[in-house]
Amino acid sequence: MKKKVYKAHILYTKERNRFEVLENGYVAVDADGRVSEVASDLKSLDCGDWEVTDFVDCLLIPAMNDLHVHAPQYRNQGIAMDLELLPWLQNYTFPEEMKYADLAYAERMYRRFVHDLWRFGTMRACVFATIHTDSTRLLMRIFQEAGMGALVGKVAMDRNCPEGLSEPVGEMVLGYEDLIAEFNNPDALVRPIITPRFVPSCTPETLRACGELAAKYQLPVQSHLSENKDEVALVRTLENTWYGDAYNRYGLFGQTPTVMAHCVFTEGEELELMRRNRVVVAHCPTSNLNVASGMAPVRKFLDNGLRVGLGSDISGGHDLSIFRMMVYAIQVSKMYYQQNHDRSFLTLSEAFWMATKSAGSFFGRVGSFEPGYEFDALIIDDSDLNHDNYSLLERLERYIYLGDDRQIKHRFCRGKEIFGQ
Ligand code: GUN
Ligand code: FE
Repeated sequence: MKKKVYKAHILYTKERNRFEVLENGYVAVDADGRVSEVASDLKSLDCGDWEVTDFVDCLLIPAMNDLHVHAPQYRNQGIAMDLELLPWLQNYTFPEEMKYADLAYAERMYRRFVHDLWRFGTMRACVFATIHTDSTRLLMRIFQEAGMGALVGKVAMDRNCPEGLSEPVGEMVLGYEDLIAEFNNPDALVRPIITPRFVPSCTPETLRACGELAAKYQLPVQSHLSENKDEVALVRTLENTWYGDAYNRYGLFGQTPTVMAHCVFTEGEELELMRRNRVVVAHCPTSNLNVASGMAPVRKFLDNGLRVGLGSDISGGHDLSIFRMMVYAIQVSKMYYQQNHDRSFLTLSEAFWMATKSAGSFFGRVGSFEPGYEFDALIIDDSDLNHDNYSLLERLERYIYLGDDRQIKHRFCRGKEIFGQ
């Protein structure tokens, strides 16, 4: 790749409480796809005769990261909103995921899914697939072809589910080893992630095997945690301990980099262990609304030093756009604030930081334009939303609240422009 310089209005968050804003700024990107420098004028950039591209009057921001999404639930997006988590899984989700034994069906749906992530400017995602090794491999290859970053999990599950979605632990391990042999290059954009579905779906043997795989291959881990009251009670009955401890016992709670979705009911020792083990929260506000789980105490997480990013959680969530997820996160935090009166609600810069730099940290140096960060970026032409002399920050806020894929003109992942397939 050649060295490049891009000119535009640059906005990003180094820190969660404030935006960096460069009007008509420049970002220099090295041949390896990393930011070498950001500057407000070209003369101060040490970039010799690098090629300069001017995105006249556009916004240049970090690309979006989705920390929790289920690719095989794409057909169920926007339907089946009338049940809470446990019956919702049994009635709607598991029957759909069983279809992914069929590779032709998987290919059709997975191509659509990856294309739509691309459309909404999400260049990195933590993705759940299904138990099926072949369709999981296919999904990983589709991400590779697209040039986008993804941690993709073959789902481990062997209890409280239909027979067609239950995989004996030995086969599960062999399936993982097959995927690891093909994909486990630590620098690759697409990698496996160890994915026990959640404690109620996994026998102790499967949880133990997942922990051993994570340790042996030094792979990250993703799962669900404390999403719904009935689920939390079920885990207590099944494992005779609190939810986070049930993962921790098996080496699935920060022993390797770990992201846990939801955490609506996380508090006390669970919260403290997450902080100590640097377990990342994937906050999924739309899912928590649709499946009627509740409101995650995100302000408390941030104030306690937890790492937090945003997730769409299709199809518990109905919206794939991480921009929209920022809006929902802020709105849900305002409802939470009204009910609890003890902590202030989320700001725009906090929501933006969660979606970019904070979530991006799960993928490496991703989500900011500081030197050394991988250049994952979006070029937003908001001229159709920008008729009245708004400041650059107001333009970004209006894009987040009002915009969609139509304003995204270019998408970059690790320095390369990514074109939809
Ligand atoms: N917990 C276990 N599986 C799932 C799932 O597919 N979606 C959500 N929202 N929660 C889960
Ligand atoms: Fe989920």
